[in-house]
Amino acid sequence: MSVDKIFLVNVVIFIQVHISDGVVNPFGPTVVNDYTNCISKVIDNEFHEPGLLIFANTNNVSTSVTRIRTKLLKRLHKEIKFSIEIMSPNNEVEICDLDNYNLGVLHVDVYVAIPFANYFVIIIDSYTDFSFLASKLIRSRSWNPFAKFIILLFNFVQDDKVNIDYVERVLSCLFKYNAINVIIAVPKANNFRNAIIYSWRPYDPPKYCGYFNETAKDRLVVQNMCESGVLKHDRKVFDNKIPHDMEGCVIEVLALQRHPFISDDEYDANIEKLMIDAMLKRFKMKARYNFIDGYRGERENVGEWNGGLKKLASKSGHLLLGGIFPDFDVHEDFETSVTYLADAYTWVVPRAHKSAAWVALVIIFKSLVWYSVIAGFFLCGITWKIIAELSEDSDYNRSFRHCFLNTWITVLGFVSYLHPVKESLRVFFVFLNIYCMLFSTAYQTKLFEVLTNPSYEYQIQTVEELVESGLKFGGFEELHDLFYNSTDPFDYRIGDQWTDITNITEAMIDVAVHRNFSLLCSRLELAHISGITPELSDSVGNYKYYTFTDNVFSVPIETIALRGFPFMMEFSTTITIFKQSGLNEGLRQHFAHFNERRRARQLRALLKEKSDVNPLSSEHLQGGFLALALGYVSGTLALIVEVIVNCDYVQNKFANFKRRVNLLS
Ligand SMILES: *[C@@H]1O[C@H](CO)[C@@H](O)[C@H](O)[C@H]1NC(C)=O
Ligand SMILES: *[C@@H]1O[C@H](CO)[C@@H](O)[C@H](O)[C@H]1NC(C)=O
Ligand SMILES: *[C@@H]1O[C@H](CO)[C@@H](O)[C@H](O)[C@H]1NC(C)=O
Ligand SMILES: *[C@@H]1O[C@H](CO)[C@@H](O)[C@H](O)[C@H]1NC(C)=O
Ligand SMILES: *[C@@H]1O[C@H](CO)[C@@H](O)[C@H](O)[C@H]1NC(C)=O
Repeated sequence: MSVDKIFLVNVVIFIQVHISDGVVNPFGPTVVNDYTNCISKVIDNEFHEPGLLIFANTNNVSTSVTRIRTKLLKRLHKEIKFSIEIMSPNNEVEICDLDNYNLGVLHVDVYVAIPFANYFVIIIDSYTDFSFLASKLIRSRSWNPFAKFIILLFNFVQDDKVNIDYVERVLSCLFKYNAINVIIAVPKANNFRNAIIYSWRPYDPPKYCGYFNETAKDRLVVQNMCESGVLKHDRKVFDNKIPHDMEGCVIEVLALQRHPFISDDEYDANIEKLMIDAMLKRFKMKARYNFIDGYRGERENVGEWNGGLKKLASKSGHLLLGGIFPDFDVHEDFETSVTYLADAYTWVVPRAHKSAAWVALVIIFKSLVWYSVIAGFFLCGITWKIIAELSEDSDYNRSFRHCFLNTWITVLGFVSYLHPVKESLRVFFVFLNIYCMLFSTAYQTKLFEVLTNPSYEYQIQTVEELVESGLKFGGFEELHDLFYNSTDPFDYRIGDQWTDITNITEAMIDVAVHRNFSLLCSRLELAHISGITPELSDSVGNYKYYTFTDNVFSVPIETIALRGFPFMMEFSTTITIFKQSGLNEGLRQHFAHFNERRRARQLRALLKEKSDVNPLSSEHLQGGFLALALGYVSGTLALIVEVIVNCDYVQNKFANFKRRVNLLS
């Protein structure tokens, strides 16, 4: 349009307004043009980005509405900026004025990957139409509460109050579904060529915090006016509705108790809670945590969820959190924050059985060392004998039996009964002593460690071995999804034999004490459970379970809100800033230190229970007692042999035998 033409049009409008004021037909083309221009002007001013524009259509409307729609659509199509979808209600249920706290159902369409709407344009002439239309729009898959809404309620009235009431109801209805970027134009009561553009401030702290019970009643703001199709003020009609200072408003948070992320005990580690509190503080909000039992919940039907998500859907709180990790199903139906923290999952299996206690005395050295010691023993005994013979030492030191006995005694770290007399044997003896001292010191040093840290039989170390072992295994229901009906045959098998658990403490007791279960669980949670459950540690503080070194997977966690929760984008930005400044690592360290202290307390209590020092039990010295028993048996055997050899009968026989050999030779 050239400048001339605009001038001409203005002049024509001017003349029309002034000449035919009061004569203009409210349902005539002039008024239709005025309203079309008005809406089109707002669209030009505010819909900057190209995108999907939902154009609402209803039947049974006045011809004026039909004509405004037609004209507007024509203009929009000409611009080739938006992709336009026309949406009409059919057999919808009323959703605006019903109590929707127990609605539970979020939408009626199954998920399809279609783009969300960026803009909604709704031209109607009665509030009744809106109610059914809203039902269609809100429950469809392209519904996007973050979109911008332009509504024209083409309803001529005698008194502005009537329309104000409708506008309030429309805004309240959309607010229930988190749409807040809404403007509504209605004809002015005494001048139907003029339109008033209303909006409101849904968040107006400290009085209005966005509680679910709030409505737009008596809170309308006039954003602008259209006078004969021309915007009166040159300003934005869509302003930012989200204040950065909420002045201490309280936000209801549904919290699943998931240690160490969130717990109702405020002296617990509570790492996720710390972060959420810090984030809310930036908006000067406070969280009121409502702890709920049970779990995140799964989708039961289209748009229907159970568990914590059902509570969220029925508006018991604005946010749901507690160690929740991202899930496609959830993303389809809810609004989620960016992810933060991260948690590694791994398998926990029962510790292998302890080896028999006598093994402790033997496993101190590798077998090669033992062979060398035995060989060395014989070698030293023989060397002792040879040197003693050659140097003509005392009879005692030349005796074969004493040579070995003395070597044995020295090896054990005691002194021999009679020391060598000759220098050559003495020199050998000195070095033999050094060797013996080293050997016995090494043995004794290691002995204590081996006695208190028992050794174990073969330990299940991989998930393949775990499945083969026939142990039952499983974890929380959410984790089952990862394996359920998997295309990988092995994962399929895991999914098939999976056992759902509900209480991780009990499951860990099955793992560690009853030894009949294996658990897929988070390392952070495991650290927490181990810190508070004494049953999982033995009397010297070793864990009675074994954790695979490999992680099965590692996931970050996120916060869930109803679709379109207006603060979600701001929350996400704040969390991202936190992440960049190293908050994740800080929280993890906080938990590690916290848990270390708690574990130290637990160990102290464990040891105290067992008296101040931890005496070695008979079990530890089983090996020693075994040796002693062997001594008794072999001593007795030797005695019997000696007695037999020394008795007269055998002596006589032996003498006879000797004589005969002598005779023969
Ligand atoms: C349209 O209006 C007619 C007559 O007023 C009515 O019978 C019909 O039910 C209406 N249709 C719809 C879809 O509201
Ligand atoms: C709305 O709920 C908030 C908190 O839940 C409460 O403080 C307020 O009084 C309620 N307002 C009305 C009108 O019920
Ligand atoms: C898993 O497979 C079974 C049998 O093939 C089928 O009945 C079930 O619906 C599948 N479940 C999922 C979640 O795909
Ligand atoms: C899990 O079981 C333990 C021990 O039986 C109990 O103390 C704890 O309260 C249970 N936790 C939950 C969430 O039910
Ligand atoms: C493990 O054994 C205990 C005690 O016999 C039993 O109570 C528990 O149910 C068993 N757990 C599993 C998963 O079979």
